[in-house]
Amino acid sequence: MTRLAILLCSLALPAFAQDAEVGRDLFTRHCATCHGLEGQGDGPMAGVMMIKPVNLTELAAQNGGTFPMERVVKRIDGRDPLVSHGSPMPVYGDFFEGVFDVPIKTPAGQPVLTSRPVVDLVAFITQIQRQE
Ligand code: HEC
Repeated sequence: MTRLAILLCSLALPAFAQDAEVGRDLFTRHCATCHGLEGQGDGPMAGVMMIKPVNLTELAAQNGGTFPMERVVKRIDGRDPLVSHGSPMPVYGDFFEGVFDVPIKTPAGQPVLTSRPVVDLVAFITQIQRQE
C-alpha cells in the first residue's frame, strides 16, 4: 500500500469525516478560475498571471508521495504567511470564516484545526492527487 493510500484510509475515519463532494463544489466556485476545474493549474485566469497557479494534483507526488496536509490547510485558510505577503493566491481565511474547530489529520499524525469548508476542500484536493 502506498503512503498516499494509507493517508486516504486514515482520512476516512469518522472522527475526521470530510465531504469531498462539498469540497468539489466549493472548488468549482472559488478556486477553478485559477487552478482549473480538475485542479491542474489550467484555469482561465492562469494565462494572464505572472505567477502560475499550482497544479494541485501534483502536491503529493512532489512531496515524496505524502500529501503536504498541514501546508495546504494553512495556505487555504491564510495562516501561511506567504499568502499575506505578496502571493497572488487570495486569502480565504475571512471568506471561509467560521470557527477553526475541525481537526484534520496530518501525515505526521498531529491534527491541525481548521474550518469546515477548508476540510471539505482539502478532502477534494486529496482525492484528485495523481497516483504514481
Ligand atoms: C486568483 C487565482 C487563484 C485562486 C482563485 C486560487 N488560487 Fe491557489 N494559488 C494561486 C497561485 C498563483 C498559487 C501559486 C503561488 C503561491 O503558491 O503563492 C496558488 C497556490 C495554491 C496552493 C499552494 C500549493 C503548495 O504547493 O503549497 C494551494 C494549496 C492552493 N493554491 C489552493 C487553492 C484553493 C483550495 C483555492 C480556492 C479556495 C485557490 N487556491 C484559489 C492562485 C489562485
